[in-house]
Amino acid sequence: MPAIILNGTEIRKEILAEIRQEVEAIKAAHGVVPGLVTILVGSNPASLSYVSLKVKTAHSLGFKEIQDNQPEDISEAALLGLLDQYRRDETIHGILVQLPLPPHIDEKLVLNAIDPDKDVDGFHPVNVGRLVIGGSEVKFPPCTPAGIQEMIRRSGVETRGAEVVVVGRSNIVGKPIANMLLQKGSGANATVTVVHTATRNLAAHCQRADILIVAAGVPGLVKPEWIKPGACVIDVGVNRVGETVSPTTGKTVAILRGDVDFEEASKIAGFITPVPGGVGPMTIAMLMRNTLNSLKFKLQI
Ligand code: GUN
Repeated sequence: MPAIILNGTEIRKEILAEIRQEVEAIKAAHGVVPGLVTILVGSNPASLSYVSLKVKTAHSLGFKEIQDNQPEDISEAALLGLLDQYRRDETIHGILVQLPLPPHIDEKLVLNAIDPDKDVDGFHPVNVGRLVIGGSEVKFPPCTPAGIQEMIRRSGVETRGAEVVVVGRSNIVGKPIANMLLQKGSGANATVTVVHTATRNLAAHCQRADILIVAAGVPGLVKPEWIKPGACVIDVGVNRVGETVSPTTGKTVAILRGDVDFEEASKIAGFITPVPGGVGPMTIAMLMRNTLNSLKFKLQI
């Protein structure tokens, strides 16, 4: 039987509808809405398009949203000053600095200067620590891993006691998702293995996985024969492998491929995410949820 496709675009729609309802209820009861500021330094076209989508989504949910575009040559001190201004702004509950930053700015210094209680990306060391401790300590799970966990939860795939194999050990996907899935609690409680570039016999590890999460950034890395029949395969890879002209718009668009050979893998897996349209669309929904939760923490509701 072919795998069930986990459609991130559809799941995102459901989550955004839930958030919209909650925003309306909080507004009616407390007279406040979540506030999100997105700071973009320079005009990198890809960053500009990501930021516009985040701001548009926030607006569509009834959030207060600020798109704060700063010139490419803004000084580090000025950027830090801006972060302090938003830290003190009572109407802002989420602060996001779009990465990458220009080379004259120390990215680590900037991320560490974001108020951890408004750090909706979940990149601040305090939030990384909270995530590792788990349970009620967790405030802002990073958005891509949170999206992965939500997709698994909504697919109905059992995580308790499941063998999870995570391919890749990045700070934004591999390490956090491994930590999240090994915690006690629903949607977690799994036995987690993280494999990486120095792992011997990648195939043997993957073949054990009830849930295989691949975030390596290598197109087609995971071969169909590495997949356990019936497994849940989450492909986080978004690799540009070429360009084509869209038949509908006539514009040149990137050809995207995941880290898994989707066509063949979907004949073996029980559940699988496509690329594009799988994990990608979930990330923004989780950013909105983190911003809403930030307001809820403040209101203690
Ligand atoms: N650049 C690419 N992805 C992200 C993200 O998730 N957060 C931030 N802040 N910058 C990014």
